[in-house]
Amino acid sequence: MNRNRKMMLASMATTLAAGVLIVTGTVQAKPPRSEAQVAQEQAALMQAVAKGDGLWHDGSLGTNGLACGNCHPDGSASNPHTFPKFQTNLGKVGTLREMINWCIMVPMQGKALALDSEEMIAMEAYSTFTHRGVAIAPAKDEQYGAVPVVSGPGYPSQ
Ligand code: HEC
Repeated sequence: MNRNRKMMLASMATTLAAGVLIVTGTVQAKPPRSEAQVAQEQAALMQAVAKGDGLWHDGSLGTNGLACGNCHPDGSASNPHTFPKFQTNLGKVGTLREMINWCIMVPMQGKALALDSEEMIAMEAYSTFTHRGVAIAPAKDEQYGAVPVVSGPGYPSQ
């Protein structure tokens, strides 16, 4: 066995041993967080949902007096659980955020949000939060026939 081959085998054995360690050891993707940290993170999410709730209903994203809530009360028919999917209005497989922008620009005559803006994330947070517990089901079928109005447990929930 030449030297290179020996070294290769040795390095493969080390990699394997490391792999076994990862599988059998208690390796965590992130360090454990305290209850206080978890509460803070949860509060940050609920802040985004509340911001989305406001934007969804105040009409500020459009210019013609309409708000998302006029056509999608409580997030209904925004179907976040079906994205990404082929959306005929977009002419391609698109995301929930792109469809939110489509509704801002077309029925509400407003200006598209940057896809990674705080506002867009809040809109997505509101839509998905109102649908928590609804099964994820990306499907082309939803495009042919009435868009089903699926409602989750809503918000605020308690
Ligand atoms: C005047 C009514 C109206 C308003 C206002 C409106 N939408 Fe829509 N929205 C629609 C209609 C109609 C569709 C269905 C379009 C289609 O699939 O052909 C739709 C589709 C959607 C979809 C895709 C649903 C799916 O299953 O494909 C999302 C997401 C959505 N709207 C979010 C919003 C958001 C967020 C706002 C506010 C920024 C908003 N809409 C404002 C009428 C409206």
